Amino acid sequence: MKACVSMRTSTFNMIRQLVYDNSGIYLSEGKVPLVSARLQKRLRMLGLGSYEDYVDVLRNDAAGEELVEFLNVISTNTTYFFREPVHFKYYAEILRALMRREQRRIRVWCAASSTGEEPYTLAMCYMEELRPGDVFDFRILATDISTAVLDTARRGVYKKDKLTDVPGNIRFKYFTRGERNGDDFTVTDSLRPLISYKRLNLSCTPYPMQGPLDIIFCRNVMIYFDLATKQKLIDEAYRLLRPGGYFFVGHSESISGIKNDFELIKPALYRKR
Ligand SMILES: C[S@@+](CC[C@H](N)C(=O)[O-])C[C@H]1O[C@@H](n2cnc3c(N)ncnc32)[C@H](O)[C@@H]1O
Repeated sequence: MKACVSMRTSTFNMIRQLVYDNSGIYLSEGKVPLVSARLQKRLRMLGLGSYEDYVDVLRNDAAGEELVEFLNVISTNTTYFFREPVHFKYYAEILRALMRREQRRIRVWCAASSTGEEPYTLAMCYMEELRPGDVFDFRILATDISTAVLDTARRGVYKKDKLTDVPGNIRFKYFTRGERNGDDFTVTDSLRPLISYKRLNLSCTPYPMQGPLDIIFCRNVMIYFDLATKQKLIDEAYRLLRPGGYFFVGHSESISGIKNDFELIKPALYRKR
């Protein structure tokens, strides 16, 4: 069945309320074309004729399965390796300081990990800091609301053009070229055990993990949230970090205007007092 192309304002309002209630993502009126285009795919897959039918499906989705698919298509997942590269320089400096202090247990949380480029970058930078004989209990927890991106991250296979920002020596060490498809690059097994993936909704507090954490990367996700959701996120990040722990946000994001006790130490990098 062919889906309707236009979306009524009342339907958009119902959809954006569902998005907000289930993810904290705030969609402005200007997002009607984007939301319509993204939902077309679900309508086609489910054989539905209108967005109103789709809203009914979501409202009667007791198991929450369609809701997961809904958020998979609604979320924006743009990411790349070594995005905002200066952050990985700071991150390496922080790791070096922890290692010098002989802190054996190091915990990093990548809070909106998307398709995996960010947590794999964090893992590669860690590997680059290791010296012969070093033994650390190092783990990265990578979480996202979208199960689709988490699946891609777990696979760890990327097209050549996704690797343009990866320095040549790093690419050589941490990726193998696909035998069947020379355009596919797979992350090496040395990185995989360092990262665990879990679905986690940042708008749903308290977060279920155990602290204390040393470093949180929470970049380019707060831009989708309103003040109330950001406040909950910042409070939780602060709670989970150890004193002196680090909180990275995207360069276009700021936590000013949100009540917090973080100290700004570098652009888009905060430390728990
Ligand atoms: C633009 S990507 C940013 C990825 C990466 N952090 C970076 O900076 O390159 C935003 C990610 O946030 C995720 N996201 C959006 N709302 C979320 C929520 N409520 N809880 C967890 N993740 C969410 C999206 O699924 C998407 O993968």
